[in-house]
Amino acid sequence: MEFKRVIGTRRTIRFFEPNRAVEPEKIQIMLEAANRASRAVNADFVKAIVCYRDELTDEVREQLKTPTTTVQLDLAPVAIFWYGDLAFADNAQSRLKELVDLGALPVTHGWSHSYVDDVAVAQSVEPMSKDAMASTWAVSVESGLAIAQAMLAGVDEGLGVGLHSFEAETAKAVLKVPDNWIPMWMLLVGYPAESHEAGGQRPRRPLGDNFHRGQYGSPWDEIPEVTERLKKEGMIQAPMDPTLRFAEIRRLAERFGLPL
Ligand SMILES: Cc1cc2nc3c(=O)[nH]c(=O)nc-3n(C[C@H](O)[C@H](O)[C@H](O)COP(=O)(O)O)c2cc1C
Repeated sequence: MEFKRVIGTRRTIRFFEPNRAVEPEKIQIMLEAANRASRAVNADFVKAIVCYRDELTDEVREQLKTPTTTVQLDLAPVAIFWYGDLAFADNAQSRLKELVDLGALPVTHGWSHSYVDDVAVAQSVEPMSKDAMASTWAVSVESGLAIAQAMLAGVDEGLGVGLHSFEAETAKAVLKVPDNWIPMWMLLVGYPAESHEAGGQRPRRPLGDNFHRGQYGSPWDEIPEVTERLKKEGMIQAPMDPTLRFAEIRRLAERFGLPL
């Protein structure tokens, strides 16, 4: 699929084909996409555990649910649990030196092994890793970047994806999660049982509501030709049609025996 169409086609899928297996090859593509995400100091902030639903007991699945994660966890054949590793600084120094040696961090910009030791690590990475708030912020941003790439790769492979909360204590015990990993989100993966459009693209506010130029209060002025081009190229797709969507939900509710 074209890149812009992948972005436009992604939406949170909540109805999955429960018995259509997801090929491990496709999961690996998603993990590789996450692995290729940009990352501060080229360190390993992001961890994930891939779980196949049918390898979890019904009891564990119930315990993993939250007020906002309900039947989708029963329907999705795969759940990927994402974590941020608070021990990210452990390998940052060697990762940075590797980048210096390869020329990714060039001498023209001040980089050398001693700059890594005395400046980047001593003044930036280490203080950040010792501050709980800064570390949490850092691993959260890193996780967001990696998860977003995994989601888009999944969509590109024809899968449905959706991020959800999960009961972290249960997951920690069942998945044997190390103490230095903090829970991020659970990514459900499967083939959609709803249509690929899932009722249409979710509403978003115009760019100028959130994005500014030069200073706050000067909203980004949309270029209409670009907006039109993005509609043709699939990044902007048809908005949700509630009549069609509610009809689809009724069909899915009947099929899966869900309440209406
Ligand atoms: C970080 C994150 C956490 C989310 N958690 C939940 C959740 O717990 N339950 C749920 O039903 N949807 C969850 N969602 C999905 C959002 O509600 C969804 O993104 C929103 O409805 C916009 O739709 P879209 O993703 O289809 O564009 C989450 C999405 C993100 C990005």
